[in-house]
Amino acid sequence: MSRNYTIGVIKGDGIGPEIVDEAIKVLDAVAVVEDITFDYKEMLMGGIAIDETGVPLPDETVQGVKQCDAVLFGAIGGPKWDTVERHLRPESGLLGLRKEMGTFANLRPATVYDELVNASTLKPEVLKGVDIMVVRELTGGIYFGQPREQYADRAFNTMIYTREEVLRIAKVAFDIAMKRDKRVCSVDKANVLEVSQFWRDIVEEVAADYPEVALSHMYVDNAAMQLIREPKQFDVILTGNIFGDILSDAASMLSGSIGLLPSASTGAGVGLFEPIHGSAPDIAGQGIANPIATIASAAMMLRYALDEQSAADRIDNAIKLALSEGYRTGDISAYGAEEICATEEMGSIIANYASRE
Ligand code: IPM
Ligand code: MN
Repeated sequence: MSRNYTIGVIKGDGIGPEIVDEAIKVLDAVAVVEDITFDYKEMLMGGIAIDETGVPLPDETVQGVKQCDAVLFGAIGGPKWDTVERHLRPESGLLGLRKEMGTFANLRPATVYDELVNASTLKPEVLKGVDIMVVRELTGGIYFGQPREQYADRAFNTMIYTREEVLRIAKVAFDIAMKRDKRVCSVDKANVLEVSQFWRDIVEEVAADYPEVALSHMYVDNAAMQLIREPKQFDVILTGNIFGDILSDAASMLSGSIGLLPSASTGAGVGLFEPIHGSAPDIAGQGIANPIATIASAAMMLRYALDEQSAADRIDNAIKLALSEGYRTGDISAYGAEEICATEEMGSIIANYASRE
């Protein structure tokens, strides 16, 4: 019997609609061969929601996502909405959605495709074989801490973590490490911040339940440097919201382009799957964006939310095949000889490979 899933689709702004359309194309292609049916439920969030409803996160979306098996999201934001009040910005919509969905664990794999070791600005020998999982806490920390305020003469935010918040994200990281190389590096700024010392103490506590996992701690400034210097030293990086945001952008360049890296945000209920990059307003509408990060996010959705391992493998293998056959979008084509594809072509090639019998 065919399996049926309801997928929430939030295309968002900028390149969001273009890249999500390609991910849907690929999902539809694997659905046929895997005997799955997807019902897509489109919802608004971000700048487009501001334009159409006056708020970045309409109630309809908050209610709608709860009725889905998983949610696929593109990107939000753009210069058009940069001057609106903070709580009405597109970014507030995304943060509100993550909070509403309770997706506290953001998994951001930074792997280097062998085919692309020459596409990075770093040396191939530094990169070959890099396979890092950044586990970013997503619904706490300075992004959400109260109080927060901006006045004419001063402004402040609060970095706060509760015991419960650290415990649950640390467990996610250790559980993942058990299925990988059994190494967790917890990244903080415990030499300066109380909240980081607190984080570190709780991570140590959790580690006691995972005797097979080797735990290390690193200050975030050093971690930024080590990621570039010797990325292969890392297996799982466990860190808070803002440090994870910054380190995952840095880690993305190991792979050659931020246009390649997917993410999965999971927690208590429905999961949210999104590329780690933004809405790239400078190239929106030109049909040149790299859809791979979003297509790979759809694969993570199949794997983590729907337990459709074979369909997920199909997509991951199809991405590798497209790359090894030399297909490149502009962002990963700096080295000349390859075939440069438009967004839609890349999506079609991957869809085609993913649906081969
Ligand atoms: C990300 C983005 C978001 C974040 C922004 C758009 C709010 O940079 O998903 O990494 O900071 O989490
Ligand atoms: Mn970011």
